[in-house]
Amino acid sequence: MDISVVGAGHVGLVTGACFADLGHEVIVVDNDVKRIANLKKGIMPYYEPGLEELVKRGVREKRLAFTTSLKEGIDKSIIIFIAVGTPQKATGEADLAYVEDVARSIAEHLPGYRLVVEKSTVPVQTGKWIAHTIKTYHRKKHIADVASNPEFLREGTAIQDFMKPDRVVLGVESKRAKDLLVALYKPLGAPLVITDISSAELIKHASNSYLSMKISFINAVAQVCERAGADVQQVADGMGLDPRIGRSFLNAGAGYGGFCFPKDVEAFIKISEQLGYDFELLKAVRNANELAKRSFAQKIQKALWVVRGKTVGVLGLAFKPNTDDMRYAPAIDVIEYLEGEGATVKAFDPQAMKEAAHLLPKVKMCQDPYEVARGADCLAVLTEWNEFKELDFARLKKLLRQPLIVDGRNIYDPARMKALGFRYISVGRA
Ligand code: UDX
Repeated sequence: MDISVVGAGHVGLVTGACFADLGHEVIVVDNDVKRIANLKKGIMPYYEPGLEELVKRGVREKRLAFTTSLKEGIDKSIIIFIAVGTPQKATGEADLAYVEDVARSIAEHLPGYRLVVEKSTVPVQTGKWIAHTIKTYHRKKHIADVASNPEFLREGTAIQDFMKPDRVVLGVESKRAKDLLVALYKPLGAPLVITDISSAELIKHASNSYLSMKISFINAVAQVCERAGADVQQVADGMGLDPRIGRSFLNAGAGYGGFCFPKDVEAFIKISEQLGYDFELLKAVRNANELAKRSFAQKIQKALWVVRGKTVGVLGLAFKPNTDDMRYAPAIDVIEYLEGEGATVKAFDPQAMKEAAHLLPKVKMCQDPYEVARGADCLAVLTEWNEFKELDFARLKKLLRQPLIVDGRNIYDPARMKALGFRYISVGRA
């Protein structure tokens, strides 16, 4: 099937490359001239395991093409996925300006029937607005259907999440739209949730908000564990064995980040307010996450006693492992807090240092964990990269000015760290 994907970001580029790998003719559109030029040369705009190889294969086999011309994309496809950014406005609402731009351009160029599919995470009722926009700006008799097909991709496992989804959600309001999307997704063999557009939009916001709530819940339980002398990981293990709860997303730490959870929780709070419902539960989720980040920074401060003039070594900057994405990364809040208290910060991250450099200009970027430790007064773990799990602790101890590790992702075992001679502080564990 001929598909165009508008937006070559974390969602659109993966979506386009995966559809091409499934045998479809795909054209990815983006108005960022440099990004498109790089993609044509096989240069990826961000790190995502397996993406570079998938894109190069699609281009080599002439199933995947890139353009800055939305008209070209519309002319050459029957299904148009809108996968442009929906960043957070200062008010917390989702900024839908890019979505409206694309909808208007589609209306102006519509050469015949097209199915316009919302792939970006959008507040409920956006589909109605897209349909209204197309109807308003299209001067001819052609018709376009609108559908919602939210993504559930996680950065670091996005390709696997696309190819083996837990479910495919299709918000459709015509048989033609339903038949096109069912035919497109059937080869994946995943359960299809076929519903109306608003329900599909809400499935996405509610899913991300629920996952955020799960994380904030265990981070709040961690606060209690610390005061009660309990171990939050063992509490999570005990909870998670109940299939109604499940163990995943119950890892306490320095808080959640990324371009989805913080933004989607805010957007869901806002759209609910606009619809007349005060989503207090989600406000508590957001506040608990801010507390998780702040209390981790204060853990470091307390462990150092005096922060001013001290050097803090940070392992991990990206908002999670296996990505270079620094958007809303807890490391930003924690490092800015420590620098505000007069600390000097050194850091290493296997992928994110280039992204982090302009966000954290005062941080001294190092080439490995040992350079970070050299002369530092403590080591703080902020991202649970696998390569931090088995370090040469004897060497670290020699390099550090004092054997102090503050672990924001609970990747080390307290008893082992004690036996190795470290003062070890983690989250929710006595
Ligand atoms: C998320 C959703 O998982 C995905 O379904 C949606 O499509 C996009 O948003 P992503 O933001 O890529 O994916 O990362 P995810 O793995 O969900 O982690 C988000 C944040 O939560 C990270 O900062 C991570 O460190 C944190 N997290 C996750 C925890 O703090 N504890 C956990 O147990 C799990």
